[in-house]
Amino acid sequence: MGSNISPLWSDYLKRVIMDLAIALDSNAVPLHRQLYEELRQAILSGRLAPKERIPSTRSLSKSLGISRTTVTQSYEQLLSEGYIQTIVGCGTFVCDQLPDLMLRSTPVESQQKIVRPLCQLSKYGIGLSQTDVSLMREPDTAISFRYGRPAFDKFPMQLWRKLLLSHCRKGSSWLDYATDPQGHRPLREAIARYLSRSRAVQCDPDSVIMTNGSQQALYMVMRLLIDPGDAIAIEDPGYLSGRRIFLSQGAKLLPIGVDESGLLVKDLADTTEPIKLVYVTPSHQFPTGAILSLPRRLELLSWAHSTGAMIIEDDYDSEYRYGDRPIPALQGLDKSDSVLYIGTFSKVLFPSLRIGYLVLPQNLVSIFTRAKWLSDRQLPLLEQYILTDFIEEGHLERHLRRMRSHYDQCRSVLVQALKAHFGEQATILGEKAGIHLMVRLYTSFSDEEIIHRAAKVGVGMMSAQPHYLKAHRPGEFIFGYSELTFSQIEEGISRLAEVLK
Ligand SMILES: Cc1ncc(COP(=O)(O)O)c(C=O)c1O
Repeated sequence: MGSNISPLWSDYLKRVIMDLAIALDSNAVPLHRQLYEELRQAILSGRLAPKERIPSTRSLSKSLGISRTTVTQSYEQLLSEGYIQTIVGCGTFVCDQLPDLMLRSTPVESQQKIVRPLCQLSKYGIGLSQTDVSLMREPDTAISFRYGRPAFDKFPMQLWRKLLLSHCRKGSSWLDYATDPQGHRPLREAIARYLSRSRAVQCDPDSVIMTNGSQQALYMVMRLLIDPGDAIAIEDPGYLSGRRIFLSQGAKLLPIGVDESGLLVKDLADTTEPIKLVYVTPSHQFPTGAILSLPRRLELLSWAHSTGAMIIEDDYDSEYRYGDRPIPALQGLDKSDSVLYIGTFSKVLFPSLRIGYLVLPQNLVSIFTRAKWLSDRQLPLLEQYILTDFIEEGHLERHLRRMRSHYDQCRSVLVQALKAHFGEQATILGEKAGIHLMVRLYTSFSDEEIIHRAAKVGVGMMSAQPHYLKAHRPGEFIFGYSELTFSQIEEGISRLAEVLK
């Protein structure tokens, strides 16, 4: 009997049998030969394990839509070569002992797959392959001062679940492609109102583009505004992930120092090299915690205006400001369309939400929108719907008020503990803001030794060193406090002081 293939898939057949994808091409060599090869490869590569049962000729012919004779022919060949065996009354199985010939051919075949020549990478691909993108090692000790995350146990889960369910019940529109790559318009409206109210950002919904966190916003800036060799000024120390994005594009990084009033704008202005872009965290310098003073903000904006450089303002956690009135965003002072403002919900809500935003000068909106559409179409709609309600119904600002008060207390506990246990041996850097604190410890130990000693008593420490491009000062550590209880903070600092005596 010849092959008898359903016209529906006469060109290409693909079926999964026992988790095994079998592809048959009806236009190529005889089907029984193809099936034989597919099964043989599956046995040699281990996808079909020794002693594993394979389907009967009847069921395989049915599921593949080919004649039983075709399947029988393939099986007979596999039987004759010792790949499979039939046990009367039980079925057909992969042989336990494969012939020497096959065993010898296995490494050669798998080698052939691995040694396929690599295609030539693009310039960007090469730059990326040379950029360190390794994850920073985070301590997994009982008390870990790791930083960068909000307190997950304080997240309003019930409320979020309620909003989620209500959108699932309402309908299925969120399953579809979005028509607007800039992001769900009601969400952009809510964010625009929130930003002008709480951060004095000049923006309307049309200048907002929703992004997959700050990370994608920075990535898009790099793709659209930076060519290899362009000079980018960065804070030193500064945000490592931002620096890596620029490096992967082959940008030339100019590290500019930071003091207790933020970026040393004078050093920036003294640079002779033409600078395309400067990346800053003015409201809570990462990681030192300094706030860029008003005179320096004005100086920076005036420098950008006169040189034509663009400023990226990364406003990643300025919602958390304790005590004083919030300092308005740099973008709010800009009169020359020099600032690209980036915000995120990673610290305010949770990082896996992956919702951030860019507020752009009007003339950049359309190109960023195009890039967004071509790169990933849109952000997931369901999360955007939920977040819109969360902001519009006032939950965001309520949540922020609660968390501000909680983190303020955590911070005070940490500061008190450091003062009590270290006294003059520790300097607390930065202003009363954010969810981490940078501390300079004066000890006779190296950073590695401090981390090692702390770990031995169950305390996790993270050095500020990776965030420096130029020489860093030893003894500087970043203490995240948002995930710890008050007593854990006290206990952690007490143990640390003990082992550093
Ligand atoms: C300076 C800075 N920017 C941005 C982010 C957040 O990035 P994302 O929104 O991609 O989670 C962080 C996170 O630690 C950060 O420290």
